[in-house]
Parts: sequence; structure tokens; C-alpha cells
Amino acid sequence: MRIRAVVRELEEYKPGAFVAGAIKLSSNENPLGTSENVKTAILEGIERGELDLSKYPWSARESELRHAIAAYLDVDVDRIVIGAGIDGVLDTLVKIFIDAGDEGLIPIPTFSLYESLIKIAGGTPRYVQRKRDFSVPLDAMASVCNDRTRMIFLSSPNNPSGNSLTEAELHEIAAIAPESVVVVDEAYAEFASRSMVKLVDDDSNIVVLRTFSKAFALAGLRVGYAVVPTWLADVYRRVAMPFSVNNIAIVAAIAALRDKEHLRKTVELVRAGREYLIEHLRPLFRVMPSDANFVLVDVSPASARTVYEALLRKGIVVRDCSSFRGAGDSLIRITVGTKEQNEKVVEALEELKATGSRI
Ligand SMILES: Cc1ncc(COP(=O)(O)O)c(C=O)c1O
Repeated sequence: MRIRAVVRELEEYKPGAFVAGAIKLSSNENPLGTSENVKTAILEGIERGELDLSKYPWSARESELRHAIAAYLDVDVDRIVIGAGIDGVLDTLVKIFIDAGDEGLIPIPTFSLYESLIKIAGGTPRYVQRKRDFSVPLDAMASVCNDRTRMIFLSSPNNPSGNSLTEAELHEIAAIAPESVVVVDEAYAEFASRSMVKLVDDDSNIVVLRTFSKAFALAGLRVGYAVVPTWLADVYRRVAMPFSVNNIAIVAAIAALRDKEHLRKTVELVRAGREYLIEHLRPLFRVMPSDANFVLVDVSPASARTVYEALLRKGIVVRDCSSFRGAGDSLIRITVGTKEQNEKVVEALEELKATGSRI
């Protein structure tokens, strides 16, 4: 049977590795794990029969989640749409905007799903290399934009570099391509010092994506959302897969938003751990500043693969960024873990560096 040519050439998404028994610092997950209040809400919901897994997700409960998100961000509930993680939200947005032959602009290195989704839709990803400090090159973006550009993808803080976009940069990009939708992927916003959610309004071409996978510790349940102009929210609901956010995920996300203490502890732990990693790794390597729950480390002259494998032998899994388009082959990304995990990774890298030639 014939499959589409574009699908034949597609590469599988490469998630951060999981190695049984090792410390996993490869997928930017929450080091504290899921809040106990969230687990209780799920179990009690099932016991009391309010969370009936034999039923499709109720629209009333979906609406309760959208209201809770709107209150959390202090934005109008009519601007909130939900999906199965940011991945699910991106999938729907690309279906809305990219037709065969259309283009999506991607400053690289960044999250790889953007390019896959554009290709699957029959569009063409156009790449622009980020600057040495990983900021977005505005002139290069402007020169690549043309009348087929439909979407621009900006991860902020950017995965894997950790730097955030400024409001001025976003305004400039939105003005470069007034006919394209500018997608600001804020998967890591809770760890950052700024967010662009307030810039979304009915006259703008900006949408902001958020997730429960990182600061809210629900990566396994797949809940994400977007803040969009109200007209786009209507279109989104027509295109999105029905019931893509399941009953348990909805209850969990509502409970996670209520547990402000777990969020506060998470953010505090991550910010302190991030500072610790940066301070202790800077004497050894070039380490990028980070607004996220990970740090990017340039291990050159060693290769990322060698350091990845050496750390793996010591029971620590990080992310070898060679698979990120435009990242080169000397970058590793380390998720901020617990205090003990951070100490272990620093110790391991100090040892590797001390043994010099072997890395
Ligand atoms: C920039 C970025 N966007 C989106 C995602 C996926 O988020 P979700 O789990 O909500 O699908 C990730 C996951 O690592 C990410 O790094």
C-alpha cells in the first residue's frame, strides 16, 4: 500500500531516554513528582463515582478546567482551549493553519515537533539559525518570511537553550508577519520571569501555549492549553479531536491548579537547583543562562555523545542534543533535579573533566 511520501521520510520523535535504575534528567519532568492532593482527587473521584471512567469526558467538567485556567492566568475564559498536552494543541493549530505548500518558520535549535507537524500537514518548515546566545535573529527571520509563511514557532523559554523571548522581540516578530500566527510555546513559563499571555487579544496574531506536564507534574496525563484570540477558539473546537483530554486528566489538572503550595515548592526547588548547576558547572564548561527547568551545557571539545555515555555509565541520563536540528554535536541538556540529583550530576561531570582525555 502507498503511504504519503512525506510520511515515508519522517523521523520518529526522540524523547529523553529512560534507563531503569538511573537518575533521569533527560525529559524536563518535575523532580517533586505529582502532588499528593492530585492523587487524592483522582482516587476520591473514582470512589465517589463522580469520576466515571465508563463515560466520555463531560463538557461541564471541561468547562470547569477552562475556568480554572482562566482564573490562574487572569485572562478571559473564552480565550482558553485545551488539548492532549502542548503536543495535542500544536497538532490542532497546525491543522488549522498549514495547507500543502504553506511554510512554517522555526528558529533552531528548538523543540522538534514543530517541524514534524508542518511536514505531516504537507507544508515546508523554514529554519533560521538562532544567534550564539540562542536569541532569535530578527533580520534573518524577516528575510525568510514570505507570502506562504503561515506560522512562526517560538519556544520561550526555548528548549533546549533555556532563554526567553522579550516582549519587544515578540512585537517585532508579530509585525514582520502580520498574516501568520505567532505561536509562543511557554511549556516552561512557570520557571521563567516573564510570560506573553497578556499579549493575546482579538486583534493580535499571537497565541500562547502552556502545559500541565512540567511545573504541575502531570506529564503522564497529557494536558495542555492555549490562550488564543476568541475567534480562533471557535475554530479550534471544530478542528480538535473530540474528548482529547480525558476524565482523569481533567480532574487532575483542576486539582493541580488548586495546589498552589506544590507549585510554589516546585518553582523554588527548580530555581535554586538551576542556580546551583550553573554556578558549579561554569568553571568546567560553557553553560547558558536558563529561565527553564534545565540547563544547556557546551561540553566541547568533547562530544555530547561521549559525555552522555560517560554519565550514563555513572547512572545519570541527560539529553544529548545532537538530535536537535542546528544544535551541533557538543551540547547536552540537563534537567534540574532534586538537590541530591544535582549534586550527583555536578560530581560526575567534575570527575569526567578531571580525567580529561577520556571525555
Ligand atoms: C518546548 C516544548 N513544548 C512542548 C513540549 C511538550 O509538552 P506537553 O507535554 O504539554 O505535550 C515540550 C516537552 O518537552 C517542550 O519542551
